[in-house]
Amino acid sequence: MCGIFGIINDKNNQAAQTVLEGLKKLEYRGYDSWGISIIPQNQKEIQVDKHIGKIGEAKTNLPKGLIALGHTRWATHGGVTDNNAHPHLDCTKKIAVIHNGVVENYQEIKVELLQKGHKFISETDTEVIAHLIEEKSKSKKINEAIFETFKLLRGSNAIAVLDYNSQTIIACRNGSPLVVGLGQNQYFLASDVPAFLKETNKVYFLNDGEGVILSNSGAKLYDIDSEKEKILTPQILDWKLEDAEKGGYPHFLLKEIYEQLKTIPKTTSINEKEINILAEKINSGYKVVLTGCGTASYCALATKYFFAEQGIDVAVIPSYEFMPFSKFINNKTLVFAISQSGETADTLIAVKQAKKRGAEIVAVINARGSTLERLSNVVLSVGAGPEIAVVSTKAFTSQLSTLYLLTTAVANKYEEGKEKIINLNKVLTKWLNNQLTSQLIMLAKKLMNEEHIYLIGKHINYPATLEFALKIKETSYVHAEPFAAGELKHGVITLIQKGTPCFVLASNDDVRDEVLSSASEIKARGGLIIGVAPFESNEFDVLIKTPDLEDLTIFANIIVGQLLGYYLGVGRGADPDKPRNLAKSVTVK
Ligand code: F6R
Repeated sequence: MCGIFGIINDKNNQAAQTVLEGLKKLEYRGYDSWGISIIPQNQKEIQVDKHIGKIGEAKTNLPKGLIALGHTRWATHGGVTDNNAHPHLDCTKKIAVIHNGVVENYQEIKVELLQKGHKFISETDTEVIAHLIEEKSKSKKINEAIFETFKLLRGSNAIAVLDYNSQTIIACRNGSPLVVGLGQNQYFLASDVPAFLKETNKVYFLNDGEGVILSNSGAKLYDIDSEKEKILTPQILDWKLEDAEKGGYPHFLLKEIYEQLKTIPKTTSINEKEINILAEKINSGYKVVLTGCGTASYCALATKYFFAEQGIDVAVIPSYEFMPFSKFINNKTLVFAISQSGETADTLIAVKQAKKRGAEIVAVINARGSTLERLSNVVLSVGAGPEIAVVSTKAFTSQLSTLYLLTTAVANKYEEGKEKIINLNKVLTKWLNNQLTSQLIMLAKKLMNEEHIYLIGKHINYPATLEFALKIKETSYVHAEPFAAGELKHGVITLIQKGTPCFVLASNDDVRDEVLSSASEIKARGGLIIGVAPFESNEFDVLIKTPDLEDLTIFANIIVGQLLGYYLGVGRGADPDKPRNLAKSVTVK
């Protein structure tokens, strides 16, 4: 939700251009509008350039300078207008503020500031921050004014302030991510690493309650409450520049779909120790609860089926429905919180509640340094690298593979599980070829003008239909509705008319005949049956053949949905990397 990027000491004295380029790497965090503020050389006030719309091809005419701070916005308070775009200035134009989060008490603060004569230009909650800092800085040092202002803001927020007088960028975090990059004589602040990865992988992720002052002599860390300096201990990330570039692919989404051939097998070489300890705990009687939102909740559901195969019953509670069931959680519960970003507000709320009930929290996450990571007792880092496309693909399959390995460890079959994942990858590598792509492009062309698509699957293929359908909806805006195959005859079948496309996801398992008989019920009503399965059948009008990988066939079945969604989206003129109305991490309730 919103991207933040700032630089101090730009090596080319072109800080605004550097911020523009860095923000383009963060556009997945919000694309309603963008804006940049700069301290221009030899000028007496901050200059701002801000516009509605995507930053994609944008240019800026801001003057040269060493220090700049910018933002991409996912609107919460105030409509999508140029005035509401960040940064926001104080009355003197010496303070520019950008913000990620929601200031819940902004109305009361605004009333007081209006009485003191401050003039507001936007309808946002953010603008009050600039004026409140201005007010406090009349009698205090700028860092004190910023820390005190921040303490007055209710809600989960991260702010970054560009201050003309001290020539610094000062930032505070409570709930929304912020990371400092320490380059060679250049210092960066961002909401995510890809913004500055070109320059440095030496980073420090701010914790809640921490503030940072970036000046031309480096970064100083503070505890916001006591306003005392702390030691800043950076870490070196193993991310490479290629991870944050398209690498010859037209879109990040397509690149990330193909990257799964590297990221899925990587899960077999990490987390082994943690997985075995967790397996022992589960076998000693700990109850397992899996939670997450969207794609992560479908990963949770698929994991439930994998656990069931090993004879273990686990609960799945989507994070946004967690509260009524949290009373069943206690100190013998392991709560697995699944999240790409580790910043999803609903997931964090569920985790905080589970912690209150005494549960142990296991974070199954991709992004490092997140709030979820800090809230957890154990971290299963799934190692998929930066996922830039808003639609989740490689993070999902890495989470699923990691949790699949856990279920095999519970059954004392971890080595066998590893072999199966390595084999899965070999088979996927052969199968994901030009022939498959051509078939999917043809299918996308055939479905291009459809407004409704239905999907059925049974048992482990049921969560696969949920994920497949979400990919289609997010990427192409076609209404795709998934059902458990058994649900069909209980009402859904009324939706089937002549030619209605219906995907049937299946594996070579003991329910394949039941799924095929549901398919024949749809076919009898005129539905167009598109099989996604490792076998042929007379019920299928079209077959996208996936490799037979036993219980792991769903990985291939889901990849079909990822690719089809991509080609449908491109064909229908959508932006596959940045679907409308969505943001990569949903940090509001
Ligand atoms: C789907 C998608 C969303 C996220 C959901 C949770 O492609 O991206 O459904 O999966 O918002 O996000 P994380 O995993 O960051 O907690």
